[in-house]
Amino acid sequence: MGLRLDEQVAVVTGAGRGLGRAHALLLASLGAKVVVNDLGGKVDGSGSGQAMADVVVEEIADAGGTAVSNYDGVDSMAGGQNIVKTAVDHFGRIDILVNNAGILIDRSFSKMAEGDWDKVLDVHLKGSFCVTRAAFPLMKENGYGRIILTASAAGLFGNFGQANYAAAKSAMLGLMNVIKIEGSKYNIKINTIAPMAASRMTENLLPAEVLEQIKPEFVSPLVAYLCSEACGETGGIYTAAGGHFGRISIMEGKGFTFHRSTITIDDIQEKFEVINQMDDAKYHSSLLDHAGSLFDQISKKEAE
Ligand code: NAI
Repeated sequence: MGLRLDEQVAVVTGAGRGLGRAHALLLASLGAKVVVNDLGGKVDGSGSGQAMADVVVEEIADAGGTAVSNYDGVDSMAGGQNIVKTAVDHFGRIDILVNNAGILIDRSFSKMAEGDWDKVLDVHLKGSFCVTRAAFPLMKENGYGRIILTASAAGLFGNFGQANYAAAKSAMLGLMNVIKIEGSKYNIKINTIAPMAASRMTENLLPAEVLEQIKPEFVSPLVAYLCSEACGETGGIYTAAGGHFGRISIMEGKGFTFHRSTITIDDIQEKFEVINQMDDAKYHSSLLDHAGSLFDQISKKEAE
């Protein structure tokens, strides 16, 4: 028998449609008991409706699985607490949290208003904080947890018209990097996915034949694996789309250390090509790891 998630309790936010629905259906089919969170509403975050989450709960039940709905918004502490409480009230614990809920308010940067910025940051960034903040102490108590954050290539690499969304999505990395460290001694693993999938977010951007190739169901197996006990990885960023999976990483180039008492703008210009290059780039697992190698470089100065 392959990997299973029997006896595990999972919360999937924004699971009423799209990627979240696919994650919830797969986790439930693997034996997890699932809280299907979704406040309904439009792609820009306006409106609400309970039907979306209920339909997914029914789909899970029809397939022989166990699930319960929750309709709170992720973007408040009260919402986060209540989403996690739903898991505890119905299933007694929380093992898995998939932060997936999201909205889009795209505008070119010179037209982006404060409200467009706040709303998007609230759902993606504050929302991931609020729900994870509610789940984390319970996971610590249990000595076990698996957390997923959902980033986007728009944040990691850039995309026109998405400054709010890209800023929120790349902020997942900072959040992950700290939770990775604070959760490590409690067997809490956290990873970030950067998916691409056919959903209402992408249906008007991509041609039908491409959308057919990137069904949300192709992303969920990675989420399920990262949420399994078998997965020991933490702090990873993974691309997932249309059956392709891979690692994305922030790396530091070798750089150049000036061993002299003053450094000028011209010194930088002269060495900029070397400073800028990424050959032999290194991954750092923490600030301390980064600082250690930085101080190694600097202290060579004294040795010379
Ligand atoms: P979607 O619009 O189909 O699903 C998002 C769900 O989140 C909706 O059901 C919505 O009602 C729910 N939601 C919105 N605000 C909420 C809130 N405050 N509280 C609770 N639920 C809320 O979008 P899709 O494509 O399935 O996106 C899922 C996640 O994946 C999002 O975080 C999105 O930014 C991210 N993503 C999607 C990509 C894609 O190609 N579809 C690409 C990169 C990232």
